Amino acid sequence: MKILAIETSCDETGISLVEASGFSLRSAAASKRAPKFRVVKNLVASQIKIHRPFGGVVPNLAKREHLKNLPVLFKKIAGAAPARFMAAIDLIAVTVGPGLEPALWTGIGFAKQLAKEYKKPLAGANHLEGHLYSFLLTEKASAKIFPAIALIVSGGHTILLRVESFSKWKRIGETRDDAAGEAFDKVARLLELPYPGGPEVEKLARRGNPTAINFPRPMLHDKSYDFSFSGLKTAVLYYLRDNPAAPAKAANQKADVAACFQAAAIDVLAAKTVRAAREFGARSILLSGGVAANKALRARLAKESKKIGAAFFVPDLTYNLDNAAMIAAAGYMAHLRKKKYPLRANGGLEV
Ligand code: KG4
Ligand code: ZN
Repeated sequence: MKILAIETSCDETGISLVEASGFSLRSAAASKRAPKFRVVKNLVASQIKIHRPFGGVVPNLAKREHLKNLPVLFKKIAGAAPARFMAAIDLIAVTVGPGLEPALWTGIGFAKQLAKEYKKPLAGANHLEGHLYSFLLTEKASAKIFPAIALIVSGGHTILLRVESFSKWKRIGETRDDAAGEAFDKVARLLELPYPGGPEVEKLARRGNPTAINFPRPMLHDKSYDFSFSGLKTAVLYYLRDNPAAPAKAANQKADVAACFQAAAIDVLAAKTVRAAREFGARSILLSGGVAANKALRARLAKESKKIGAAFFVPDLTYNLDNAAMIAAAGYMAHLRKKKYPLRANGGLEV
């Protein structure tokens, strides 16, 4: 099955062509086979430079940029003969949520137009399911990975799922305030680093001492699988306010703050994920979402998974950040599950 997928939920415009094979829900149960995906093309137009002066994503600017980028990316992927290219497509998938609704509508509108013009079936896809399935784009997996614990960590979400199969999961925990990525972005702002903050904090953290400051680990010992990151961000704010560094030491202090904040955030993310994996007897841990691009988090979860004898799956860096290849995977799986998402923007769609 050839899938053309479109992603416009936030500040990346994505169009991908993905081939999916080797899977049906019945065969999955019978033969323990996993779906196979081959990413033929994965195009992303990033709007980072446009939103950077504002320190965050501006929804109406995102909408304008998506409207501008979509036809350009489509031309690039379809080449000189779009009718021939589209003739080979079996399914169009588009993100319907969660995300910024004005941004989501641009992708939905574009996908509807393509579906109509070329008479192709159109499947709505859940962005979070895209992150959840994203490891399948690069990792070889079988149904032997279940039960699994999935940690989805992005700019808008921090969610723990207990995953029973490729089509069945249950949400066991989530953040009660800020998402992990949001905390990285806010701390980056406190450290006067540019948007998006996650990669900047990670870079700076490499030069800092992760034990210099003892920031809180919110909800670490709480019995639930929920998270909270706003207190950690506030602790960073108070630390910077109460410990003004001399100009000569300011750079070192910033690096230490970045390292200690990152260590605290990773401690909580890893501890809760691993505890869930142990308590549910998980055979594997799945990590995804923008924050999964963080090498320290990847390394930590890889190490902890090994310790408890669980396999660890995380997609290549390209597929951690928002992209349309993962939307192709989510659209394909929704199509097989006969899960029909209404083709309208749903900013608060859940997983
Ligand atoms: O999944 P994503 O691209 O968009 C959403 O669906 O939200 O995630 C973006 C988030 C941002 O908050 C960004 O700062 C964070 O992921 N992020 C990182 C890293 N790279 C991106 N956080 C920590 N370390 C990174 N290397
Ligand atoms: Zn995302």
